[in-house]
Amino acid sequence: MKIFKALKIFTAVVFFLTLPFLAQASPLDQVSEKDVRALLSKMTLDEKIGQMTQVDHKSLKDINDIEKYHLGSLLSGGDSDPNGGNSLKEWSEMVDRFQRRALKTRLKIPLLYGIDAVHGHNNVMGAVVFPHNIGMGCTRNSQLIKKAAEVTAEEVRATGINWTFAPMVGVPRDKRWGRTYEGFGESPEIARTLGPAAVSGFQGSDLAAKTSVLACAKHFIGDGGTTWGTGKPAIAGNAAGLDQGDVRVTEAALREIQLPGFAAAVEAGVGSIMPSFSSLNGSKCSGDKHLLTDLLKGELGFKGFLISDWAAINDLPGDYKNQIEQAITAGLDMVMVPDKYPAFYTQLKELVEQKRIPLSRINDAVTRILRVKFAMGLMQKNYRPFSDQSLQKRFGSLAHRQVALQAVRESQVLLKNNNKTLPLSKGLKRIVVAGANADNMGNQTGGWTVSWQGKSDDITKGGTTLLNAIKDTVAKTTEVTFSLDGTEAKGADAGIVIVGETPYAEMFGDRDDLHLSEADVKAVQTVKALGIPVVVVIVSGRPMILDQILDKTDAIVAAWLPGTEGQGVADVLFGNFHPTGKLSVSWPRSMKQVSINVGDVAYDPLYAYGFGLTY
Ligand code: GLC
Repeated sequence: MKIFKALKIFTAVVFFLTLPFLAQASPLDQVSEKDVRALLSKMTLDEKIGQMTQVDHKSLKDINDIEKYHLGSLLSGGDSDPNGGNSLKEWSEMVDRFQRRALKTRLKIPLLYGIDAVHGHNNVMGAVVFPHNIGMGCTRNSQLIKKAAEVTAEEVRATGINWTFAPMVGVPRDKRWGRTYEGFGESPEIARTLGPAAVSGFQGSDLAAKTSVLACAKHFIGDGGTTWGTGKPAIAGNAAGLDQGDVRVTEAALREIQLPGFAAAVEAGVGSIMPSFSSLNGSKCSGDKHLLTDLLKGELGFKGFLISDWAAINDLPGDYKNQIEQAITAGLDMVMVPDKYPAFYTQLKELVEQKRIPLSRINDAVTRILRVKFAMGLMQKNYRPFSDQSLQKRFGSLAHRQVALQAVRESQVLLKNNNKTLPLSKGLKRIVVAGANADNMGNQTGGWTVSWQGKSDDITKGGTTLLNAIKDTVAKTTEVTFSLDGTEAKGADAGIVIVGETPYAEMFGDRDDLHLSEADVKAVQTVKALGIPVVVVIVSGRPMILDQILDKTDAIVAAWLPGTEGQGVADVLFGNFHPTGKLSVSWPRSMKQVSINVGDVAYDPLYAYGFGLTY
C-alpha cells in the first residue's frame, strides 16, 4: 500500500506544478461577443453552413469550391500531402494558395487548416519528430511537454497551418490498442496534468500570436476504454480489435478515468475538441447529445467548437441526412466531412429549411467557430493568414532538435540493471549492436510520421538512428559492429540488442499478441550466448511481453518511439544522462494481463506504473 501512498503524493506534486496551465485565462473569454454577434448577423445561411464544413484538400474538386461553398476549414488527414511533394516549401505554397481563395469570399473569413501534428510537425519532410506521447508521459515533465508543443506549433505555423488535432488526452487502458502510444499514459492523473501543458504550449499565452496554433483535445470520450472485439477491423473481414469500439462501463466509471484530461484541457482554454469514433454502451459519441451538449458544453462549460473525426458521422444510424441531423443536433459544430462536401452542404441546408435542425443550433455552432477564429486573431483588420517566412528559418533547427533530444533523454525508462551493467563505459574495446530497430529511422519514429501509418527505414531527413548515436557517443578507439541478428559478435565486450515494433497507426495497430518477434528473441539469444553483458532496448509504442528474454538480459531500457533524436537514448546508455523516466503505463507479465492498470485491485504487473530505475 506504501506504493500507492507515494504515488498519490507524487501525483499531487505534479498536479500542483501544472496549476499554472490551468489558472491561465481561456483565450475564448477574451473575445468580444459583440464582434462575434455582429459578424454572425451579416452571414447568410449558406455562409454559416460553409463555416461548419471541413474538407480534406485532396477531396477538393475545384479550388473555386472554397468560395462556392464558403468553406470554413480544410485539413490534411493522414497521407494528404501537397500534390507536388512534401517539403516545407510545398506545404507552405499549398496552404497559402487556399487562404488566398478564402480571402476572395464576401466576408473574407480565413480558413482553419487542420493537421495531425501529434509528435512534432510529423507530416513534413525534415521536421523535428518528438517522442510519441507514451514516452512524453514517462517524463512527467509538464514544462518539457509545453516546450515541445511550442516548438511544434512554431514548425506548424511556418507552413501556414494554424490548427493541430492534438493533444490526445484519452486514457489508453488496454495495451492491445493501436493508439496506446498516442496517449500520455493509463491514469487520469497523467492526462489531467500533461494534457493542459500541451494545450498551453500549442496555444501559447496569446492564441493570436504568430507562433500559436489552435489545439484540439481528442477523442471525447472513452477512445482508450473500448472492449476487445468491438472495434473496426483494419481490413474488412478481419477480426475486430479495439479501435473505434464500444466502451461498456457506467458513466460514473467513464468519468473517473476518461473525463479529467478533457476537463483540464477545457480549463486550459482549448479551442476545439474532437468527439471519438467510439461509442458508450452502443451510443456513438459523434451523435450523443448527452455527452456532447449536456456534459461537455453544459457541465464543463466548453466554449470552443466540436469538430467530428474523419467521416465519423457516417457511422451513425440511418441515411446521410439522418446522420447529419443526429450529429448536429447532438452538438457537433464542424464536420470533417471530408470528401462528399456538396452533399453535406446541400443536405444540412435542407435540414434547416425543413426545420429539422433549428436555426438557433446553426447560430450556436457558427458562433463557437467564429469565437475561436476571433481568439486566433484571424478576424483582425488586414490579417494575413499565410505561412511565416521568419519561422521557416527555424524549421528543423538544431535549437528545436535540442528540445526533442531532452524529451528523448527524459522519456527513457530503465526497467532492469543487474550488476550495474548500465551505464556502459564509452571506452570499451568493442560493442556489438543488434536488432531490427537499431538502425531504422522509420521504426524509431513510428506511426503518424510523414505518412499516416509511418514506414520502416529512411522515412525523413535529419535526426539520428540509435546505432549512429551509439557510434557518435563512444570513444574513437571503441569498435562498434552491427548485425541484425547478432552474429559476428565474437570478442565483443558488451551487446546492445534493439528490438520492438514496426510502425502502425489506429486500427492497424490493434494486436492480440504483444510478444517480441522471433527474430528479436533470437538476436537476444545469439548475443547472450557470447557470455557478455546484454542490454536490451525496446523501441515500441507500448509495453511488450518479455518472458522469452527476461532471463537473458542484464539491463532493459524502454525507449518507446523516440522520434528523430536517437542521441537521447545513447546519452542514457552511456551515462551522459542518468535515467529519470517513470512508467506511464503498467508493464504486463503476460498477455493475460494486457488491460492491467494502476489502481486495479489485483495489481501485479512485471513493472508497475510509476516504476523506473536510475544510476
Ligand atoms: C483520424 C483520427 C484522428 C485524426 C483525424 C484526422 O482517423 O482518428 O485522431 O485527427 O482522423 O486525421
